[in-house]
Amino acid sequence: MPAQSTADSAVSSAENAAAPANALGLTADEARAMLADPLMVLVNHTCKMPDDYTFDTKECGSATAVNKTLQTAACDAFLSMQKAAAAQGLNIYISSGYRSYSRQQTLYNNYVKSDGKALADTYSSRPGYSEHQTGLCFDLNTIDDSFGNTKESAWLEQHAQEYGFIIRFPKGKDAQTGYQYEPWHLRYLGIDMATKVYNSGLSLEEYLGITSEYAD
Ligand code: DAL
Ligand code: ZN
Repeated sequence: MPAQSTADSAVSSAENAAAPANALGLTADEARAMLADPLMVLVNHTCKMPDDYTFDTKECGSATAVNKTLQTAACDAFLSMQKAAAAQGLNIYISSGYRSYSRQQTLYNNYVKSDGKALADTYSSRPGYSEHQTGLCFDLNTIDDSFGNTKESAWLEQHAQEYGFIIRFPKGKDAQTGYQYEPWHLRYLGIDMATKVYNSGLSLEEYLGITSEYAD
């Protein structure tokens, strides 16, 4: 359970970035109510991780993962999804869950060194701008493009929303999300919201009418 939320700063950050009308035609009050839920915190190139967003984390699986904690609600939902996948003969496990600011800084700086900033920005978040810092998302299994060709990935594309998750950076939505397709990166939204976003066929940014662009 989140110990404390930062709904206000999340809302103001998102509102500043919001287009006049979002894809669903939500009113400002409806959008505010949606974003006031701490589980809906939006972190992307436009919206920085709120400084006062705090939460409890729970160990969530794979002993070999470097970062294997998640917020409690996301962890419990993941464990149910993992069990359902296993019943279909599929193996999903968390390779990277919650990351601290400093862990993200190390990762990002290494990618910038090897690939340059412009390319690194398409697949790795600047510290302070990574959804991994919220404890509400994770990378599964092998974190590379080959994951998109697995049975596990195909199953997740069909069923993740039933457990409260969306594929956060869908194929062909780079301009909207700010990131390349990442079939392995799932974000917890709760079953109701994840199902709505899934059924819309939109990225989360499009669904909320929010951009994902760094200021510099
Ligand atoms: N790979 C995701 C976008 C991150 O670095 O947060
Ligand atoms: Zn990720």
